[in-house]
Amino acid sequence: MNVLRTLLSVITVSVVLSSCNYDVLHEADALDVDLKERLQKASPTGELSHFILPASTDYDNIPHDPKNPLTPEKIALGKYLFYETGMAQVAARQSGMETYSCATCHVPSAGFKPGAFQGIADGGVGFGTQGELRQMNPEYEESEIDAQGARPLSLLGVAYVTNTFWNGQFGGGDLNEGTEDLWNDEDFTSINELDLMAIEVQNIEGMGLHRMEMTPELATEMGYRVLFDLAFRDSPVSDRYTTLNASFALSAYIRTLLPNKAPFQDWLEGDYNALSNQEKRGAILMFGKARCYTCHYSPALNSMEFHAIGVNDLYQRGGLNTWEYDRRNFGRGGFTKDPDDMFEFKVPQLYNVGDGAFYFHGSSKETIEEVVDYFNEGIPENPNVPGTQISAKFRPLNLTKEEIADLLKFLKNGLRDPYLDRYVPPYVQSGNCFPNNDALSAEQMGCE
Ligand code: HEC
Ligand code: HEC
Repeated sequence: MNVLRTLLSVITVSVVLSSCNYDVLHEADALDVDLKERLQKASPTGELSHFILPASTDYDNIPHDPKNPLTPEKIALGKYLFYETGMAQVAARQSGMETYSCATCHVPSAGFKPGAFQGIADGGVGFGTQGELRQMNPEYEESEIDAQGARPLSLLGVAYVTNTFWNGQFGGGDLNEGTEDLWNDEDFTSINELDLMAIEVQNIEGMGLHRMEMTPELATEMGYRVLFDLAFRDSPVSDRYTTLNASFALSAYIRTLLPNKAPFQDWLEGDYNALSNQEKRGAILMFGKARCYTCHYSPALNSMEFHAIGVNDLYQRGGLNTWEYDRRNFGRGGFTKDPDDMFEFKVPQLYNVGDGAFYFHGSSKETIEEVVDYFNEGIPENPNVPGTQISAKFRPLNLTKEEIADLLKFLKNGLRDPYLDRYVPPYVQSGNCFPNNDALSAEQMGCE
């Protein structure tokens, strides 16, 4: 009797289970079909493959500058230099020497953004776990520190950025064709005249702006000579261990920072279990009802469009070295001086966006939930931005609570590459602490 009952219940349970499995599968199938259709419609090429990021070693398919070809040797060098506090040789004060690196402001574990609302390199001390404890070095005047009037952009998928900065000012090609007469104004150098792509141009400028340099002596002292020899065989030895070549290596390396192990990427490659049903529903919203794709549609889910969505500026939350009339607050218009471009900012990428804690160019939001609410409500927050400038694509979405939860799940998990550590070297050749090397950071990070 007991045996029979057990047997019966086993049968019932398995029938229920398998029909339930069947429903789950069925729902997943339907969601996959729906998502594929939406992506095809959202894709500028009409193909799903538009959204697939290349492997970081697929050099032919990573957008790059033919004048700075991607090679494993150059990328390996750039991977050290990006974190190398030893290049911090042009600090404004002695106490800043050899204390900062590119990764001070572009922190891998914060999605290659800073962990604080503003990045501070020279003139900053402290780190915490992802830069959240960075503060001004009391020995510096505010005007002496290296802190910019906008939050650092993420460098994930930066290969898909044809003109860099929130205002797109760097790079003479693409969007900046026809802006030649702007390249010599007081705030700007003629660097765009170099016949190079934006990332290469910007990093030449960036080495100087961020007070870094490379010399033959440094290369020898820090142990980079051989790496430069391998990466820049074609440069004459007299011209090999230079700040310029260091910038080229950095450019090559950052072009390989592709979040290609995010679950959404696996799904695009045909692993339909990589996303949960909730994440799939979120993706369907992102590429459908929530209309995120109308602006975020390039492979890194950025785009080279500029839009005013009326968020607050950095000075409004107490940013250092910035003020109401900082031209960075005017977005594209701050560069082109065209009234039509005022307050329009570049559409940034969306991978690992939940890893940091500050959103928008002025870090006016601190959670991804707040960001989604902002888009859902569609009400500009910055009183300085005239309503006439606000993008027609920025309007209320009327998403339900459940839809918001689904969208958030996709943003936080589906678009999160959990293995970004692969882009971080185990040490830098100088043996310095990184990404910061001031005493306070070293202590907080447990460097010896
Ligand atoms: C003091 C902080 C700081 C340091 C150090 C720093 N950056 Fe940045 N980075 C920024 C800020 C801020 C922006 C955005 C500026 C803007 O748009 O007005 C930015 C933007 C960029 C961009 C453009 C991204 C895009 O989508 O347009 C690239 C590329 C970049 N940085 C690379 C580097 C490299 C390479 C280094 C090291 C040489 C470096 N950065 C060091 C703060 C920093
Ligand atoms: C009108 C075009 C447009 C639409 C539609 C749009 N975005 Fe954006 N998004 C932008 C622009 C422009 C910025 C940068 C604004 C700024 O900082 O001034 C941005 C910034 C963001 C950021 C912050 C990224 C960072 O690095 O700080 C997130 C996250 C984001 N968008 C997600 C979404 C989601 C989710 C949707 C759909 C609900 C969406 N966006 C719809 C244009 C758009």
